[in-house]
Amino acid sequence: MAESSPASFLTQADALLRKNFVFQKRNIWSNIRLVTIPFFLCFLLLVIQMLFDSQFNDVHGQCGCLNEKTCGLRYSTSEQAAFCAIPKPPQWTPLLQIPAPQYRAVAPYPSRSSPATFFFTGKNQSLGKILMRNMYTNFSEFDGDLANYVLGSSSLPAYTNYMDSTFLSDLPIYNIQHECSPNSSFSTLIDQFPLAFPKEINCVQGLNLWQNSSSDVNNELFRGYRKGNPDEKINEYAAAFDFQNTNRNILNVSVWYNSTYKNDTVVRPMALIRVPRLVNMASNAYLDFLKGSETKILFEYVKEMPKPETKLGLDIASLIGPLFFTWVILLLFPVILTTLVYEKQQRLRIMMKMHGLGDAPYWIVSYTYFFLISFLYMLCFALFGSAIGLNFFRLNDYSIQLVFFLICINLQISIAFLASAMFSDVKTATVIAYIYVFGTGLLGIFLFQFFLEDPHFPRGWIIAMELYPGFSLYRGLYELSQSAFAGDYRGVEGMRWGNFENGMKEVTCIMLIEWLLLLASAYYIDQITYSRKHPLFFLMQNSSKKKQHHFSQSQISKVVIEMEKPDVCQEREKVEQYLLESTENCAVLCNNLKKVYSGKDGNPQKLAVRGLSIALPQGECFGMLGPNGAGKTSFINMMTGITKPSSGTAFVQGLDILTDMDRIYTTIGVCPQHDLLWEKLSGREHLLFYGRLKNLKGSVLKQAVEDSLRSVNLFHGGNGDKQVGKYSGGMKRRLSVAISLIGNPKVVYMDEPSTGLDPASRKSLWDVVKRAKRKAAIILTTHSMEEAEVLCDRLGIFVDGSLQCIGKPKELKGRYGGSYVLTVTTSEEHEQEVEQLVHNISENAKKIYRTSGTQKFELPKKETKIAEVFQAVAKAKMMFPVVAWGLADTTLEDVFVKVAQTLS
Ligand SMILES: *[C@@H]1O[C@H](CO)[C@@H](O)[C@H](O)[C@H]1NC(C)=O
Ligand SMILES: *[C@@H]1O[C@H](CO)[C@@H](O)[C@H](O)[C@H]1NC(C)=O
Ligand SMILES: *[C@@H]1O[C@H](CO)[C@@H](O)[C@H](O)[C@H]1NC(C)=O
Ligand SMILES: *[C@@H]1O[C@H](CO)[C@@H](O)[C@H](O)[C@H]1NC(C)=O
Ligand SMILES: *[C@@H]1O[C@H](CO)[C@@H](O)[C@H](O)[C@H]1NC(C)=O
Ligand SMILES: *[C@@H]1O[C@H](CO)[C@@H](O)[C@H](O)[C@H]1NC(C)=O
Repeated sequence: MAESSPASFLTQADALLRKNFVFQKRNIWSNIRLVTIPFFLCFLLLVIQMLFDSQFNDVHGQCGCLNEKTCGLRYSTSEQAAFCAIPKPPQWTPLLQIPAPQYRAVAPYPSRSSPATFFFTGKNQSLGKILMRNMYTNFSEFDGDLANYVLGSSSLPAYTNYMDSTFLSDLPIYNIQHECSPNSSFSTLIDQFPLAFPKEINCVQGLNLWQNSSSDVNNELFRGYRKGNPDEKINEYAAAFDFQNTNRNILNVSVWYNSTYKNDTVVRPMALIRVPRLVNMASNAYLDFLKGSETKILFEYVKEMPKPETKLGLDIASLIGPLFFTWVILLLFPVILTTLVYEKQQRLRIMMKMHGLGDAPYWIVSYTYFFLISFLYMLCFALFGSAIGLNFFRLNDYSIQLVFFLICINLQISIAFLASAMFSDVKTATVIAYIYVFGTGLLGIFLFQFFLEDPHFPRGWIIAMELYPGFSLYRGLYELSQSAFAGDYRGVEGMRWGNFENGMKEVTCIMLIEWLLLLASAYYIDQITYSRKHPLFFLMQNSSKKKQHHFSQSQISKVVIEMEKPDVCQEREKVEQYLLESTENCAVLCNNLKKVYSGKDGNPQKLAVRGLSIALPQGECFGMLGPNGAGKTSFINMMTGITKPSSGTAFVQGLDILTDMDRIYTTIGVCPQHDLLWEKLSGREHLLFYGRLKNLKGSVLKQAVEDSLRSVNLFHGGNGDKQVGKYSGGMKRRLSVAISLIGNPKVVYMDEPSTGLDPASRKSLWDVVKRAKRKAAIILTTHSMEEAEVLCDRLGIFVDGSLQCIGKPKELKGRYGGSYVLTVTTSEEHEQEVEQLVHNISENAKKIYRTSGTQKFELPKKETKIAEVFQAVAKAKMMFPVVAWGLADTTLEDVFVKVAQTLS
């Protein structure tokens, strides 16, 4: 196979995209569920809208009708009148609002109907008395012009004056006079185009009461207020006047009127519809005082402006839309966040990085990918919303929506990237993300919108609140909804670039700036955490580059550890030699590598690796043996860039792990101690992905994947195409090994590759490693001595952070073993004799084990001849029965135990 150069940016991006694509295909159902959420919410809105329309629009929300064709003012209630086409608005005699008879202040003359009470006050009481008398006059006969009378009604007014409910209802119109004579009530024909009908006009006494000051008036009015308790004495008042400093030259009057009229069931603001007549009364009384009763300002009628027919089109989607749409858009956030955190939690990101995936392709592809998903999602949402006719989408300019939503989803993705740095656990991230989604929506509608609609709330604070991305999103959606709502109500278009409101400009700017800032900080934090760069890396880049590959004698560590064994010392010297000549001749060159974990909670510092120096030539398999916690994994973590060495460095193919990790990643393969795999992808897809990262293409890639599946026994029975989630532990292990070897890496790190494998798989795995050894240097840690012996060219025994010995397996055995083990089993009474015989063979024989007749002896090789042993045994056999015996060379295990023990 040809030497492959590192994968280009495009190749890496392609690999990642394909992997993500397959991954999403596996997740197709959750994806479909995700995309249906907007459909579902839009549908829900539609249903609510239809319910509303059917309930309100028919009866209340449109002009009244006699039958299907004849509609109009004539057939409408005062509420419906507001929706009729009114080319010529009728003129209504202006009325006063006076309390219904049962609520009026107590009648002074119980025999008559209770009077309507007015209060008066002012600076000059004698003038006030005159004005009080002038308020209305005594009429005994109707003179045909209603404007001459002070008329009132206790019916509830509508919001508009298109139709005065009094004239339609059965309630009488009251004519207010000082004194009611029998003929001061009369009936007359009211002719108010287009209506004409007879109406009863009843006299009611007006009772004018003087108060010393306006605060007295206030007190009285307050005491009269119905407090909801029916037993309480009720004194409602028609109105009150304060003439203040009125004199011959000035009319200065304020009027109290009751704006909250209710008929026990409905409370409604009466607006100002029945106030003008009060003002007219006051000015007429003053005019009378100045000029005499001949001079009058007659208030003939009130009328509204003409208007076309309208309908009560309450657009529900626009009203509660901001809440719904905030949810719809934010729902993508948990999805993006959990994907990112999953790759972090499962350490897949670092795994991909170790196999050569650069930061730039990872970022660009992930970002683009989330962007595409979000964009599709929003597109579905907008299309569906428009299709079912939601005004929110139809009325607002699509280009505004496009720009706004684009900014929103970009901001959201940046936030997800930033947030993913803070979580290491998918479950926590999911919970927090959903709290963010629903909390933001609810806070938006119940808190933020409240402030937004309060015109006195300082705008500066609103902007401050909008710095929270959830609120700026809410604000944008709110503005769009308001435009759509207003547009629908007035029958015009919604938001256009021409009427791009201040609020909308504000949030668009805020979100745009936040997007850029958050994206930059997310990338920055990622660089610090994943690439282990210094927090000020962008300032230091230049200075660190210069330091590379300049070694002088003085820079090479001069630390000499006194206790160091000669073989370890020799290795150190070899390393120093290489450093002076060329670092490139070695596959791996560690120079005094150290790792210190700082002590936490008062514990002392832990030295995980204490000055390790080794040189590995091309094509060597180096086995690291050592008890648990000896620092093997710390060493591999440093070499693969997961942690940074505390001091010292290492060169892989001549590249420094401190400065050139990114380039090193393109030439190494890693099989970590714990399998780092995507549960949803199959074995083949894993290999395809990592193969592409290693720049394999086309048929070469296919062949490499097939070979590698076959070599680790995953090819048969469709195992290669099963999802990894369904693999057994051993299968995952084999896949991890296959991944570490794909693409012909120059250096391969294997951290306990064969744990959990059955003997057959182990054998085939060994074959794979043996074959790989021809092309790559392999660093392997293991607890199986058998494996070490079979695979490794050299072994190093690593205890308590430093190398105790290093050498070929045979040498080690020779050095530390140097003895045979003789086992003899007899009956118990002959133990003594056996021991005697053994001592005859060798003076220095040591008994290392004894139990009920079975004894083990260590015989130094130098003093022992195998023939002598056979002779001794033959002799023993003649003297007493020997049940069994055996002679064995020292095993690696013995060496290991010995070396590990010497230290402890
Ligand atoms: C009060 O008004 C009357 C009538 O206009 C006037 O004669 C009198 O001087 C006024 N009193 C004061 C204190 O202004
Ligand atoms: C109205 O009639 C009452 C009683 O008949 C009388 O006391 C009062 O002065 C009259 N008011 C006017 C302004 O004529
Ligand atoms: C109004 O003031 C006068 C004198 O200042 C006093 O006699 C009268 O009781 C007061 N009326 C009320 C209702 O307080
Ligand atoms: C104003 O109208 C409301 C509703 O009809 C009533 O409860 C209240 O007592 C009135 N206030 C006065 C001062 O009459
Ligand atoms: C009207 O009365 C108020 C309250 O007494 C007073 O503040 C104001 O100056 C008066 N206006 C004029 C024009 O006298
Ligand atoms: C109060 O409202 C009810 C229902 O809207 C209506 O039937 C009734 O006539 C009203 N009463 C008055 C006094 O307006």
